[in-house]
Amino acid sequence: MHTPDPAPFDFTGRHVFVAGGSSGINLAIARAYAAHGADVSLLSRSPDKLAVAAGQVRVHGHRVGSHAADVRDYAATEAALAAAAQAFGPIDVLVSGAAGNFIAPALGMSSNGFRTVVDIDLVGTFNVLRASHAHLRRPGASLINISAPQARNPTALQAHACAAKAGVDMLTRVLAMEWAADGIRVNGIAPGPIGDTEGVRRLAPDEGARARMLASIPLARFGELADVANMALVLGSALAGFVTGAIIPVDGGSSLQGGRDLSPTLSEA
Ligand code: NAP
Ligand code: COA
Repeated sequence: MHTPDPAPFDFTGRHVFVAGGSSGINLAIARAYAAHGADVSLLSRSPDKLAVAAGQVRVHGHRVGSHAADVRDYAATEAALAAAAQAFGPIDVLVSGAAGNFIAPALGMSSNGFRTVVDIDLVGTFNVLRASHAHLRRPGASLINISAPQARNPTALQAHACAAKAGVDMLTRVLAMEWAADGIRVNGIAPGPIGDTEGVRRLAPDEGARARMLASIPLARFGELADVANMALVLGSALAGFVTGAIIPVDGGSSLQGGRDLSPTLSEA
């Protein structure tokens, strides 16, 4: 008979590394883990953003490390992961969420514009996971890639992000297979539109676009940062110990929009 863990979200003594952790959704995940006792390492490009973010994570009184690196630079990413593991020990939970985005039609983006987003989101995720492997707790580490609806839904003006995030999801599944023997789980979270984030500001820059976005969410609200952070806590905990290779939507039902609702037809009959 399985004995339930009395405190599945106590991450005291655990090391959580968050790539792209200096703002938005990833920072919220970092703060949630710190609030539950973890030592947290943050990676992003900007030392200034990292300093502000570390201050917000640190209010909970646990150890916080900052590592300025660009995930497109494998050597810098590898050095950051090594330094983090040297400081706080093997990594128990790794979040890969660094991303870049802008709205443009394929004919409105240069090859370099397309490549830039693919490099940050997809190659960056490969770099973070590849370089982390030597420093992961084995067995037991939980890796969480931050996906997006674009991975599943062809989205006009998002050729780069759709291609990149679809690749991220496939990487999640492949590494879940390759690293299962080491006792490492690899999963994804696909957030829907999360209010007050850079992602939504870029994709819905005015009120009309925000209203259309809201109308596409069956639960009829924008997501909150805590909605995504809560799922990250679950995936990083032993409660998800048999979950690997899963990409979990946290989107108020947005990913159901390919389905059909015939209730208006019935009410009109
Ligand atoms: P955000 O606040 O802009 O966060 C992006 C983070 O990535 C920042 O910490 C940024 O810091 C870092 N970053 C960007 N380029 C980097 C690079 N080359 N190397 C290292 N770090 C880099 O965005 P967000 O809206 O919260 O999105 C966070 C994640 O959620 C992304 O993966 C995004 O695709 C996903 N997502 C967001 C939404 C949404 O509603 N916002 C929906 C679905 C999926 P620096 O500038 O300091 O590098
Ligand atoms: N439309 C078309 N092309 C664009 C563009 C836009 N709105 N914004 C950037 N590009 C192109 C640039 O013109 C450049 O291509 P070029 O060399 O052929 O002119 C290429 O993209 C790279 O731009 P650059 O500004 O040099 O890239 P960067 O590495 O400094 O920044 C971005 C990457 C563009 C993604 C930047 O917006 C960023 O850092 N974003 C992080 C935050 C973010 O996007 N958050 C939301 C996450 S979902």
